[in-house]
Amino acid sequence: MDKPAKKTLHLKIALAIIFSALLPAALGLFIPLTPPFYILIGIGCSILSITFLFWTLKPLGQLIKNTREFAGGSLNIRADIRSGDEFEDVGTAFNLMVDKISKTLQQLETDRDVTVSEKNKLNEILTTLIDGIIAVDFNKNILLFNKSAQELTGFSETEVLGKPIDQVIHFFADQDEILSKTYCKENFNQTAKLIGKSGKQTRINLMSTQVDDQTQSHLSSVLMLHDLSREEELEQMKLDFVSMASHELKTPLTSIVGYLSVALNENKDKIPAESLQLLQKAFTSAQQLQTLIQNLLNVNKIERDKFTVSNESVDYLPILSKVVEDLRNQANQKNIVLTLKADNLQKVFADPIRIAEVLTNLVANAINYTNPGGKVEITTSVSPTELITTISDTGAGIPKEAISHLFTKFFRVSNLEQKGNKGTGLGLYISKSIVEKLRGKIWAESEEGHGSKFSFTLPLATQTAGFLDRNKFTAQAIQSGSLNY
Ligand SMILES: Nc1ncnc2c1ncn2[C@@H]1O[C@H](COP(=O)(O)OP(=O)(O)OP(=O)(O)O)[C@@H](O)[C@H]1O
Ligand SMILES: [Mg+2]
Repeated sequence: MDKPAKKTLHLKIALAIIFSALLPAALGLFIPLTPPFYILIGIGCSILSITFLFWTLKPLGQLIKNTREFAGGSLNIRADIRSGDEFEDVGTAFNLMVDKISKTLQQLETDRDVTVSEKNKLNEILTTLIDGIIAVDFNKNILLFNKSAQELTGFSETEVLGKPIDQVIHFFADQDEILSKTYCKENFNQTAKLIGKSGKQTRINLMSTQVDDQTQSHLSSVLMLHDLSREEELEQMKLDFVSMASHELKTPLTSIVGYLSVALNENKDKIPAESLQLLQKAFTSAQQLQTLIQNLLNVNKIERDKFTVSNESVDYLPILSKVVEDLRNQANQKNIVLTLKADNLQKVFADPIRIAEVLTNLVANAINYTNPGGKVEITTSVSPTELITTISDTGAGIPKEAISHLFTKFFRVSNLEQKGNKGTGLGLYISKSIVEKLRGKIWAESEEGHGSKFSFTLPLATQTAGFLDRNKFTAQAIQSGSLNY
């Protein structure tokens, strides 16, 4: 609770007035004095009352001095007034005020140190980031431009700060410039070409995040520029290495498969059954390795956009029959009934070699992933413009969550039922590329424990002349490399 304010100052002043004016008057009334003596008493009283007044007002001078010192920056100054009157109250209030101001100033100083240290930390983080960071305000003027952004664009911070981003930094998707009104949007994420200060072009991934308006930071969007050139270089090196290694392996392996095949055929009746079995195993393993290398080369070509297919009108039934007959032995070994239900098929647009690869992979998969004693059936049906081929089996089936991943590179289902089956997970990825290049579609339907169904379409060759021409044009364009899809 606040102490009640003292009220002694006006009493002191009243006393001084009484002393200087009333006392000589009273003396004059009651004691008969000669004028000179009376004047002397009057002067004496006035001197005493003035001295008393000076003594009463002395703390005011000290307060003024203390206030001046405080204003001059001495935060530790305190008024020491013990006059017992209102000046003592003012002195106490002054000390309280000085205390509060000092604490507030100290707090402000601490807050400023924290802010400066946080700012330095943020600057340090932004500087060490490999990605370029650009922040813009609501008028799309640049507010922040980190070191990586400076290196990527070639502009220094002072050259761009406060300037409209569209005037300084230029991003392109194909031939079209992407402006800030497009990329300063939530979840913008796109590869783009950045044109730097000296016209240098860099492939980047441009990402944008919108800043919450509530933060009062004046930021509207933060852009992240991720340099893709190094990654693309590494990816290219990886592709080159796989391509070179596969080619180096392919030649000796072709000889091994050839020699083993000759050795097997020529010595069938001459060598003991055990040795023949070993030779047969070596031949099968070498063939598997050959398929794997061919698959790796195919994937390599797909990723380099160099995988080409011819697109001609072909008789489909002989291709289908040959694949089924080639794999019949494999099915028989597992006691799987392999049936082909197709006759009088119309011609289709396809690449005979590539489409045989697709069929071989799908039928081989059906045999591989079906238990002995099961069934694999190949059927065809016709829609107005397409021929649909379906390979169904009575195998283990595929879990629902795996179906959408089946056609991706290196994907293999890892359930118990399929354990022990060797494979690399490339067959379906390559098949999808081939079918799509031939303007078809491929899909899978399956229920775990109830077998699987793989289907793909091919355009029928009995189309109108326009369609035929279009396909011929497409095939030629693909062959010549002028069309990539
Ligand atoms: N008919 C099928 N029944 C059950 N699972 C299948 C069937 N076909 C494919 N799969 C699953 O899909 C995965 C991918 O098949 P894909 O043909 O791409 O590779 P792979 O057979 O493992 O190896 P490869 O590259 O030698 O063909 C397989 O590993 C298998 O788990
Ligand atoms: Mg396969």
